[in-house]
Amino acid sequence: MRLRRLAAVGSAALVAVALTACGAGFTTATAGGAASDGAGAPEAERVFKVAFNQNADQPEAVAMTHLGERLAERTDGRYSVEVYPNETLGAQKDTVELVQSGAVDLALVAGSLLENINADFVALNMPYVYDSQAHQEAVLNDPAITGDLYSSLEEQNIRVLGGFSAGVRSVYTSVRPIETPEDLAGLKIRVMETDTNSRMMDLMGGVGTPMGQGEVYTAIQSGVIDGGENNESIYRNLKHDEVAPYYSYTNHLMIPDYLITNPATFDAMSEADRTVFLEELQAAYDESSRLTTEVMTESQRAAEEAGAEFNAPDVEPFREAVAPLLDEKLTTPTSRELYDRTRAVAEQMAEEER
Ligand code: GCU
Repeated sequence: MRLRRLAAVGSAALVAVALTACGAGFTTATAGGAASDGAGAPEAERVFKVAFNQNADQPEAVAMTHLGERLAERTDGRYSVEVYPNETLGAQKDTVELVQSGAVDLALVAGSLLENINADFVALNMPYVYDSQAHQEAVLNDPAITGDLYSSLEEQNIRVLGGFSAGVRSVYTSVRPIETPEDLAGLKIRVMETDTNSRMMDLMGGVGTPMGQGEVYTAIQSGVIDGGENNESIYRNLKHDEVAPYYSYTNHLMIPDYLITNPATFDAMSEADRTVFLEELQAAYDESSRLTTEVMTESQRAAEEAGAEFNAPDVEPFREAVAPLLDEKLTTPTSRELYDRTRAVAEQMAEEER
């Protein structure tokens, strides 16, 4: 099916690729492309580069790679995407700027980074704001709730195309299991680079220490910090379990990852192609969501098998400890409204379950 459609475009290059594809699967489209195992990025006239800071097996990368395949197919080879994993195009902070300048087409970045550009994003980054992955996904991809927020960065040359759930974050340390906020006393815990996250960790009882994700392993190993906070998959994948074997389910954060682009890049597509892209993005959320659930369970199992210890403290004392953050950070009517609407979705979902 895909081959027939690509060949039908009639461009010599695409026909050539279609022929290659008969034998060996699609080749990567970009010379020197960092991603791929060769199966990932179908050739197209325009291959959007997607910057990603984790490895190519992570749910969002897999889902975006598959999106690229479907996009190539449905646009008759006009567009596809190629994921550049492992910070190849830079740490998240840098890739936001690369999207703004148009040097990179798309990037997956944590909500914390966008909060530094428009503080209203903070509402969707607050500790304990979501009850579940399903709740988070319902909020992130409801244009009635997030539409204005996602288009609020156009003047800064950023458009948020959508949000992925990136699992639930908990604390891990090299020192001891965390049962209560008091157990975090004096421990330097790496957080993402925002004041909100730093302050959150201080309120939780530790010492919030902002840094890029790529530096965390060495920082723990050398004793510069005592741990971090992330989901089970990152914990296992970046081998943080080797240097910080105590993972404690504080479940305090579910920071979304946003797919961002430069409005000029996206609007250069025809309206019909943009629609296809956005439809396929919906399918990508579903795939990533399913894989996220699987990968977290599997990562926990693998880390445990390798010697990590998992414990499940009572989260209530942590929830109470971070409560002051709401008044400190939800300082605009928009952020307050976003927060309230997010909580209203949770209540509605709970009601429907009863
Ligand atoms: C998760 C999240 C990333 C983020 C990272 C971090 O992996 O998906 O977007 O960069 O955590 O802690 O920095």
